[in-house]
Amino acid sequence: CQQLASEPLLAGVRLLLTAGPTREALDPVRYISNHSSGKMGYAIARAAREAGAEVTLVSGPVALATPPGVTRVDVESAEQMHQAVMSRVHECDLFIGCAAVADYRPARVAEQKIKKTGDNDQMVLTLVKNPDIIAAVGALPDKPYTVGFAAETVDVEQYALDKLARKRLDMIAANDVSRAGQGFNADDNALTVFWHGGQAPLPLADKLTLARHLIALIARHYRP
Ligand code: CTP
Ligand code: CA
Repeated sequence: CQQLASEPLLAGVRLLLTAGPTREALDPVRYISNHSSGKMGYAIARAAREAGAEVTLVSGPVALATPPGVTRVDVESAEQMHQAVMSRVHECDLFIGCAAVADYRPARVAEQKIKKTGDNDQMVLTLVKNPDIIAAVGALPDKPYTVGFAAETVDVEQYALDKLARKRLDMIAANDVSRAGQGFNADDNALTVFWHGGQAPLPLADKLTLARHLIALIARHYRP
C-alpha cells in the first residue's frame, strides 16, 4: 500500500536508544570513562521523535537537554545501562546503540577514597569486562531491528562489518574518529552505514542533519 505523503517515516515505531558515555567507579570520587558528549545520540533521539517514533533514551551522564517528547532514563555505569535496556527491550521495535559503553570496569570499587601511598610510583588496576549491551539485544530470539555504531581509528570498514556480523546487527554506522573535527565531542560528524548487502556514505554535516539522514535510511530498511 502506498505511504501517504504526510505520514511521518517512523510513525508509531517504538525506539529504544542508548547515548553518552558510561562511568565505571573506582572509589567514591573517581571513575573510568570514554570520550562521548552524547550529541550524536541526542540528535538521533530528536530526529526519530520528529519522524513520529515513540523514543526512550537510556542516557549516560551528559550535559544535554532532553529533546522534546523524548522519555529519558538516566544511568551511570555499563551494568546499569545493560539493566535499563534489557528491562525495556521487549517493548521496542527498533534499538539503536549509540552509547560509548566502557568495555571494562574496575574489578572492585573501593568503599573509601583510594589514598596515594608514600613510596609507590605505580598503581595497577584490575579490570573486568562489562556486558556487551547491543550484542545481548542482537542475541534475543525476538530481537528488535538493531542498529549499532562503530567508532574506529583504522580499518573502519573491516571492523564495522565484523561488528555487524558478530553482534547480529541489522545495520551499523561507522565513524572514523581519527579525522579531526568529527565524532566524539565535535559538532559535526560523517558516517558510513553498512547493512547486509549494502552501504551508504552520510557525508560530513552537523549532527542533527546527519541524524535525520540516518533516520531516513533506517526507515527505508526497517521491517517490523
Ligand atoms: N556496545 C555495547 N556494549 C558494550 C560495548 C559496545 O552496547 N559493552 C555497542 C556500542 O554502543 C556500539 C557498538 O556496540 O553500538 C560498537 O561499540 P564499539 O566500542 O565500537 O565495539 P566493541 O565491540 O566494544 O569493540 P572495540 O571497542 O574493541 O572496538
Ligand atoms: Ca568498545
